[in-house]
Amino acid sequence: CAVRNYKFDVVLKNKTRLCSSKPIVTVNGKFPGPTLYAREGDTVLVKVVNHVKYNVSIHWHGVRQLRTGWADGPAYITQCPIPTGQSYVYNFTITGQRGTLLWHAHILWLRSTVHGAIVILPKRGVPYPFPKPHKEVVVILAEWWKSDTEAVINEALKSGLAPNVSDAHTINGHPGPVSSCPSQGGFTLPVENGKTYLLRLINAALNEELFFKIAGHKLTVVEVDATYVKPFKTNTVIIAPGQTTNVLVSADKNSGKYLVTASPFMDAPIAVDNLTATATLHYSGTLDNTPTTLTSLTPKNATPVANNFINSLRALNSKQYPALVPQSIDHKLFFTVGLGINPCPTCKAGNGSRVVASINNVTFVMPTTALLQAHFFNISGVFTTDFPANPPNVFNYSGTPPTNLQTTNGTKVFRLAYNSTVQLVLQDTAIVAPENHPVHLHGFNFFAVGRGLGNYNPKTDPQNFNLVDPVERNTIGVPTGGWVAIRFRADNPGVWFLHCHLEVHTTWGLKMAFLVDNGKGPNQSLLPPPSDLPKC
Ligand code: C2O
Repeated sequence: CAVRNYKFDVVLKNKTRLCSSKPIVTVNGKFPGPTLYAREGDTVLVKVVNHVKYNVSIHWHGVRQLRTGWADGPAYITQCPIPTGQSYVYNFTITGQRGTLLWHAHILWLRSTVHGAIVILPKRGVPYPFPKPHKEVVVILAEWWKSDTEAVINEALKSGLAPNVSDAHTINGHPGPVSSCPSQGGFTLPVENGKTYLLRLINAALNEELFFKIAGHKLTVVEVDATYVKPFKTNTVIIAPGQTTNVLVSADKNSGKYLVTASPFMDAPIAVDNLTATATLHYSGTLDNTPTTLTSLTPKNATPVANNFINSLRALNSKQYPALVPQSIDHKLFFTVGLGINPCPTCKAGNGSRVVASINNVTFVMPTTALLQAHFFNISGVFTTDFPANPPNVFNYSGTPPTNLQTTNGTKVFRLAYNSTVQLVLQDTAIVAPENHPVHLHGFNFFAVGRGLGNYNPKTDPQNFNLVDPVERNTIGVPTGGWVAIRFRADNPGVWFLHCHLEVHTTWGLKMAFLVDNGKGPNQSLLPPPSDLPKC
């Protein structure tokens, strides 16, 4: 196994999109940022140097970080951020994972422009469990704001109202040929007739789940969140922020240009976004002035299309890559996720109240000392361990709004014994409005054993759980007005963030953390922190 060294200089860089320019925070001047390549088993060292006025931290989204929580990256959870002018070396080993993941800033709203791909190849000599593609291409879906994203969220926090969700979606950094600035042609994917391509799709957007399509071409899904799945064909991929999906596309036409689209999936009644990013699949030998073959857009509220895709996902569960689903459960947790309303005397626009978000009616308050440091060095007063295993009130979560809209504030964690097994049901509350929440768990992969609309029924729903080949992933969409059940084994000591990957919901407090104790055996403890860990 190799050691891979990377240097990430966090710098401002002027970029022109939608026919106007602005400076954005980037890594090495790139938007999207550089791709990090490694093989399974490699050790990765990334020296991040902060040259901008903001505090910075970087998260390696989906990398398990076994015993190396110090390299996970969420600011004030596993580390204090890297101050201006300073640096920190993220040091981690890729264990038992191969596929596509992403890295992104994990502080404020910097991940809007500070993100990139992680490509983990199998160990040398180990083939993919699908035909070897002719070429592999990273395709990053994201967003673009005309104004500064930090200003956008700060304004929203002051007013108590929702922020502008973005001014464009992007494919590999560009809104594309069908946008308000068509002169910037957008991303082109060159292909040759008869060849097969592996697209490594990443949704790096802050606030939108996206449908991805290519006119005239079917996509074969082979992997999600760096875990192999049973291959299946689809016209449309649905991908939530933080999720990754590898698809094979066969260039089975003789020639031509075909439109590639990324458009929002929003089935919540408060959904407003209609923006579509476009790119071009271009067969070699096709003249530039050939008209592009278009595709019909998936309507933004196409819930059946999304459900169909999600229900088709199954772990590969082969001899080589078995699905190790926990069959007996130590902790049965039920978390309600959703929005709420809290009083805010200074919020004029919000009429004396502000939108908040919560899990089990707890709005998480960010500490000023990182939780992992407080845990490791026994610093008291930073967090409490009384995060509730169930919501305080039982009610009709997906139906008529109840009266308990309000939440309490706290920096609460839920404590798990080393190697205990957890079943977590995540229920959308629909309190303010039903909405899809892509929930991400740091430090683990989990199995998505069940999913349904309406209220979760603890008596009948578990009878239908898939405990054989459920898809394994790190980020899962809790359906609008519905629930998902996930299972994982707490085999990674440390403090691990769980949050909605819609950044506006995280900002509002839809987050918590698990504290996993050390085990008693060898190699079952959190390693000590590196000496350059940023100070709080
Ligand atoms: Cu990709 Cu805590 O985030």
